Amino acid sequence: MRDRKMNNEVASAKKIIVATKPHSPVSEQFRTIRTNIMYSSIDRPIRSVLFTSAVAGAGKSTIAANVAIAYAQAGKKTLLLDGDLRRPTCHYTFKVSNQKGLSTAIVNDIALEDLVNQTEFDDLDLITSGPIPPNPSELLSSKKLTQFIDHLKFQYEMIIVDSPPLLSVTDAQLLSKSADGVILITDVENNNRNHLLEAKDLLNKADANIIGLVLNNRTIKDKSKDDYYYYQASHDV
Ligand SMILES: Nc1ncnc2c1ncn2[C@@H]1O[C@H](COP(=O)(O)OP(=O)(O)O)[C@@H](O)[C@H]1O
Ligand SMILES: [Mg+2]
Repeated sequence: MRDRKMNNEVASAKKIIVATKPHSPVSEQFRTIRTNIMYSSIDRPIRSVLFTSAVAGAGKSTIAANVAIAYAQAGKKTLLLDGDLRRPTCHYTFKVSNQKGLSTAIVNDIALEDLVNQTEFDDLDLITSGPIPPNPSELLSSKKLTQFIDHLKFQYEMIIVDSPPLLSVTDAQLLSKSADGVILITDVENNNRNHLLEAKDLLNKADANIIGLVLNNRTIKDKSKDDYYYYQASHDV
C-alpha cells in the first residue's frame, strides 16, 4: 500500500479544512457533526449517512468530504461515495481520476479494488461518481445499486454519501433508501423554509431517517475568506 501520510500540500483545497486546519473552530464543528451522528442512534448504529439538500450549492460536497475525513481521523475505516451522478465534485476535491466510479459499478461488473481510490488520508477511501450517465435516476433505482452499497457496508465502518439536491431530481431520495441516516444541509444565506419543508417531505416519503440539519453559512461578513462557518442543530428539522 502506498504511503498515505497526511499531506497538507495535496489536501490544500480549502474544502478540506478539517485536514489543513484541524485545530480551527470550523474543524471542531465537523468533528461535532461526527459525534452527533455517532450518538444519534444508540440501538441501531449509524454506519452510512447521506448528505443532501433542497437546492444546489448548499455545501453538501464540502461538508460530506470534511465529515468523511473527520471519521477517518477518528480511526474509522471510512468511504466517501460520490452519489452525485449529475454534478460530481469529489474527484476534484481529492484530485483523482473519475474514469471509473459508482456509475461504472452499477452498469458493469467491476472488482471493488479497481474502483476504490485511496486518499492521502489513512482510513479514507473514495469512490467517485464515474462517467456521468444519461439516466442517473434509473441507475440509482436499480437493484444493483442496493447490492453494491450493501457490499460496501461489509468493507467500511462508515460510508458517507454525497448526492444531488432533492428538489431537482429524485436521486437523493433513491440513495436515502440505502443510508442508515440522512443529513439535510441548508445554506443560511439562501435558506427558504418552503424548500426545506418540501425537502423534508420528499425524504419522509422515501422513508428516510433524517438525523440532522446542518446550517451552512458560506458568506458571513467580516470573516476571513479562507474560512467557512456553519453551525448545527440536530433532530429538529
Ligand atoms: N461554509 C462555506 N464557506 C465557504 N465556502 C463554502 C462553504 N460551503 C460551501 N462552500 C463553497 O460553495 C460552493 C458550493 O459548495 P458545494 O459543497 O460544492 O455545494 P453542493 O455540493 O451542495 O452543491 C463550493 O465552491 C464550496 O467550496
Ligand atoms: Mg455537490
